[in-house]
Amino acid sequence: MNTIYLTTSEEDIRRAAEIIKNGGLVAFPTETVYGLGGNALDPEASRRIYAAKGRPSDNPLIVHISEFSQAEPLVKKAGGLQYPEGSRIPEAAHRLAEAIWPGPMTMVLPKAEGVPDATTGGLDTVALRLPANDTARRLIELSGLPIAAPSANLSGRPSPTSWEHVREDLNGRIDAIIKGEPCIGGIESTVVDMTGELPVILRPGLITPERISSVLGVPCSYDPAILGKPEDGLVPKAPGMKYRHYAPKAEMRLFRLKDEASADGHKRLLSAMEAEAEEYRRLGRDVEILCYDSEREAAEKLFSDLRRLDQENADIIFAAALDQSSSIGFSVMNRMLKSAGYNIVEI
Ligand code: TXA
Ligand code: MG
Repeated sequence: MNTIYLTTSEEDIRRAAEIIKNGGLVAFPTETVYGLGGNALDPEASRRIYAAKGRPSDNPLIVHISEFSQAEPLVKKAGGLQYPEGSRIPEAAHRLAEAIWPGPMTMVLPKAEGVPDATTGGLDTVALRLPANDTARRLIELSGLPIAAPSANLSGRPSPTSWEHVREDLNGRIDAIIKGEPCIGGIESTVVDMTGELPVILRPGLITPERISSVLGVPCSYDPAILGKPEDGLVPKAPGMKYRHYAPKAEMRLFRLKDEASADGHKRLLSAMEAEAEEYRRLGRDVEILCYDSEREAAEKLFSDLRRLDQENADIIFAAALDQSSSIGFSVMNRMLKSAGYNIVEI
C-alpha cells in the first residue's frame, strides 16, 4: 500500500476525512501521542487497525469524538448511577467532561448496541476521548464519525510522539499520515473507568487522580493491577495494560535510590549511572543515559528518546527513576518500568 502524506491544511484534513469515511486508516496528531484512526462504527475499519499495528484484537480501541454531544449515541444507561434529564451519560461523566475535555483523559462507559464489538474488543463498555488538538478535532468533525484510534505504533513499540515516528512504524501499512506538530503531552491519556459508583484509573496519565477527585468531590483510586508488578498476577481492567509495551531494542535498566528523600539524590544517581556506564564502555558496549530534570520533561521526551536510542543502536540504556510519590512521576514510571522489563538497580 502507498501511504500518502498530508499537511494540516483544511484541504488536506478534508482528504483525510474522506479516507476515514471510505473505510481507510489515517494517522493524526493528538496532544498525547499520534493516533491511528478509522471509522469506529465500522468493524472492518477496526479490524484493519489491528492488522496494521499487529495488535491483539482483544485489546479495545479508544473512540475519539470532537464534541460532547457525539458521546450520547455511543453510551448506554446502566443501573446504580445518576443521570441528568434526557441523557444516557452519567452525571459524574458530564462533570469530568466539562472540567477536563478537550484534554488527555479517556472515560470508560457502558457501551450502546451500535458500537461494534470489533472496536471494543468484545467488552460491553466503550472508551471515549475528546482530544485537545485542533487537527484531530477537525478531522473527526469533517468525517462526521466517531474515530477509533489506538496509538499509531507497531504493537510493542514506544508510542509515536511525532509524524516521523509514525512513518518509521506504519509507512506502507496505512492510507495516510497527517504531518502535524510533535505531541506536547508525550504519554497516552489517563483512562478512567466511570461505570462504577467511584472513578477508578485504569491507565495513569497526565490527568491525575487528585484532579479527578477534586472535580467530582469523591475519592479516585488506581486499579490495583497497575500498582503491582506483572508477576503479582492481578488482571488489569484495561486489557492493554497487560502487554509489555514501549520496549526499546537495547537492554534497559532503571536506577533508583534506596533513600529517595536525600537532598543530593539526583546527583548521586547520575554519578552512580556514569560509573557503571564507564565499566561497560571499557568493554566496548554503547551505554546511553537518560536523566530528566522534571517529570513533565520525562513525559514529553521518554518515547522519542527510546526511539532515537534504537536508531543509534545503543546496547544498554540506563535511566534515572522518577519520584513516584507525585502522580505525574508515577504515570511516567509506569511506562519506564515496562520499557525496562522491571529491571531495577537500587543504589
Ligand atoms: O492518548 C491516548 O489515549 C492515545 C491517543 C491516540 O488518543 N490512544 C491510545 O490508545 O493510547 P491505545 O489503544 O494505545 O490504548 C488504549 C488503552 C488500552 O490500554 C486499552 O486496553 C484501554 O485503553 N481501553 C480501551 N477501551 C477500553 C475499555 N472499554 N475498557 C477498559 N480499557 C479500555
Ligand atoms: Mg498504545
